[in-house]
Amino acid sequence: MKVLIVGSGGREHAIAAAVAKSPKVDKIYCAPGNAGIGQIAECVNIGAMEFDKLVAFAKENAIDLTVVGMDDPLVGGIVDEFEKEGLRVFGPRKNAAILEGSKAFSKDLMKKYNIPTATYENFNSPEEAKEYLETSKYPIVLKADGLALGKGVLICNTKEEAMDGVNELMLDKKFGDAGNTIVIEEFMTGREVSVLSYVDGKTIKIMTSAQDHKRAKDGDQGLNTGGMGTFSPSPFYTEEVDEFCKKYIYQATVDAMASEGREFKGIIFFGLMLTEEGPKVLEYNARFGDPEAQVVLPRMKNDIVEVFEACIDGTLDQIDLQFEDNAAVCVVLASDGYPVAYEKGFEIKGLEQFEDKEGYYVFHAGTKLSDGKIVTNGGRVLGVTAKGADLKEARANAYEATKLIDFENKYMRNDIGKAIDEA
Ligand code: AMP
Ligand code: GLY
Repeated sequence: MKVLIVGSGGREHAIAAAVAKSPKVDKIYCAPGNAGIGQIAECVNIGAMEFDKLVAFAKENAIDLTVVGMDDPLVGGIVDEFEKEGLRVFGPRKNAAILEGSKAFSKDLMKKYNIPTATYENFNSPEEAKEYLETSKYPIVLKADGLALGKGVLICNTKEEAMDGVNELMLDKKFGDAGNTIVIEEFMTGREVSVLSYVDGKTIKIMTSAQDHKRAKDGDQGLNTGGMGTFSPSPFYTEEVDEFCKKYIYQATVDAMASEGREFKGIIFFGLMLTEEGPKVLEYNARFGDPEAQVVLPRMKNDIVEVFEACIDGTLDQIDLQFEDNAAVCVVLASDGYPVAYEKGFEIKGLEQFEDKEGYYVFHAGTKLSDGKIVTNGGRVLGVTAKGADLKEARANAYEATKLIDFENKYMRNDIGKAIDEA
């Protein structure tokens, strides 16, 4: 089989590495890819939003399966474009990717189908939003409705902050049209857990759990980022939590989408908050998490191509999804200054030490080839993943492995997985 992967980050590298393990696959392409993906796939210089060019490429090269890693093309309807041409593609159609593409939609869906989530109201007008905020309880949470690179969420401690937040999102349009509508919701407290799942329209199969670290600095300080590290499984995702979510959240979401005429095929990422009242949905994503994929996929035992095909064909009920009984930790190596301003173009040294190092992975996020050398090319540069018999061992292995890699401006958090010690 020939497989095309759409995207260019650490998540797509993790997907490509999983696809490369499938005995069914002869050749992998990635558009646009990066230097690390280029070691296992042929990178194609087409952007993830260039649907016409991607479709033409898939036809010309007789691609058997296209896998879309990123949210933007999914929300923009890339799957519909591929299907129109009779091409096999893994991911939700536009009418289902709205589960991630519109927070107002997902909140209304949860309310209608009694799926536990924070109480909220949606607003199209800044005046009405401000009026609501006059009598709200604080802290409160403001969310841009549309995609905003995970940065469109404002936690406001006071009325003043919330009023400023409305101005930022709806009037200054900090995230463009994503802020035309906003969700204002109750502030919740508790542990956060990410749960990824495969969905074929009817059946849902849950993957192992994970936890992300969104802030730039140790102790969850600093600005929100795309994710500075992850661990899997989460020790807080207990059997009791799993049972609750299976009863009230997972299948309920898949059935709700089907009832709305928006059959969901692909990945549903459940961002959960474990509150005192039980687990509640913080958000849905319609794709693998980044860097959750970098700790979940290395632990998956199945042939991922078989699972993707079962989702497309509606036969996921026949797949026995299995994960290794171990743990994995991913530490992101970033460019100092991320997520604000940083320099790039520095040579990355030490990568060769990971070749064939069992249980260790370097997933490239922002890298490129320059004069035959691999150089830094983004805020998040690499994700170093290591497995271990348990979380503590995996964490020690991952941090030990970060020492093998060097580049100017190398920055990482030193407390990825600290929560493990509190479990
Ligand atoms: P989201 O993109 O919706 O997952 O939000 C990003 C982050 O903001 C989450 O991972 C939480 O840390 C935080 N957050 C979002 N919604 C809430 C909420 N209702 N209460 C508390 N924290 C929240
Ligand atoms: N790690 C969070 C996300 O992928 O949205």
